Amino acid sequence: MASVAMTLDANCIKRDFPALERIVNGHLITYLDSAASSQKPWAVLRAMDNYYETTHANVHRGVYTTAVEATERYEGARVIFARFVNANSKREVIFTKNVTESLNLVAQSWGNANVGPGDAILYTEMEHHANLVPWQMLAARTGAVLRYVPVTDDGHLDLSNLDTLLDGAKVFTFTAASNVLGTINPVRQLADAAHRAGAIAVCDAAQLAPHMTMDLQAMGVDFAGITGHKMCGPTGVGVLWGRESLLDAIPPFLGGGDMITDVHIDGFTPNELPWKFEAGTPPIAEVIGLGAACDYLSGLVLDDVRAHEIDLTGYAMDVLEARFGDRLKIHGPRDPNARMGVLSLALEGVHPHDISQVLDQQGVCVRAGHHCAKPLMRRLGVGATARASFYVYNERHDVDTLAEALSSASDFFK
Ligand code: ALA
Repeated sequence: MASVAMTLDANCIKRDFPALERIVNGHLITYLDSAASSQKPWAVLRAMDNYYETTHANVHRGVYTTAVEATERYEGARVIFARFVNANSKREVIFTKNVTESLNLVAQSWGNANVGPGDAILYTEMEHHANLVPWQMLAARTGAVLRYVPVTDDGHLDLSNLDTLLDGAKVFTFTAASNVLGTINPVRQLADAAHRAGAIAVCDAAQLAPHMTMDLQAMGVDFAGITGHKMCGPTGVGVLWGRESLLDAIPPFLGGGDMITDVHIDGFTPNELPWKFEAGTPPIAEVIGLGAACDYLSGLVLDDVRAHEIDLTGYAMDVLEARFGDRLKIHGPRDPNARMGVLSLALEGVHPHDISQVLDQQGVCVRAGHHCAKPLMRRLGVGATARASFYVYNERHDVDTLAEALSSASDFFK
């Protein structure tokens, strides 16, 4: 059994999340799908409501009181986020729609300017589609070649050939933590290897940022993307963080209002950072909600969030292995310290979608499918998995409910 001290009171935290009071199919909901999207605390919902109820106006445009207030709240959230991830400056924090848009921004704006025929683009076999397809599109546009770091049988990156794979690479892009295996990757080591080879390092931090302290300066990467909705924030907002010198050097992504300082009939002058990359009216309420989410998580203390999730993951692995033995496979590393609270499961004789449907009858929410990571599914030799994922509001009781519900599924399909 994992022995890390559990410092969060998940039962108390649960009360901050109104959606966790739902009764589903006659049962109090057991929400185990936070890797797909987390639930939202009152603090976030109220911050967004309050903005709409008292201060709604467009940002960066009006000089009247509420317009100025809206701009202050929007830009205030940028400062909060910059502090949350230890960015050097708020100029490095670009608000996007989600991590997918953040990664597309890099692949297009940086990629078009820096990648040419024959250059290598290196990613890993454990990426989800958001960190594969934009680079595949870049390779198709430029004639660059695609390479990948393979995944070992125990769910880690196989780094034995990394320097060879990086030879001739312009960019190495990797997830900080796998949304399927839970594996936490050695971000600093990967970034340093990329730099030694003359490549930039891009990090998909969507699965990491909600769960542990994220220090961008210590991570050593050049660009990193996150999404708000996995970290207690709303949907519709993400962040691209980038080194100021790189962001300054590359062209804008989308064109339109706000990303310019001047426009003539035949051309434009881009705005300064960060607005150079924020075209059009941004997701104002969502950015304010993301700022509230960062404050909420900071209040819980990210190191404690991580300790809680290690404890819960270790407990879940122990409980499920004891109950199901060889009939249940949990993909990814066995050590709860080496992984996030994401358990992709294969239960003998039961299709993952059937697991999810039977669990739903008991109010237990798990995701079934390929988890937007089809190349990794092929590596694992499966078409789909059932995935349970934990967050701040989950407690051991939820794991016990999951185990009971999985037993029902196993019995039902016997
Ligand atoms: N990438 C998200 C997930 O893992 C959508 O579910």
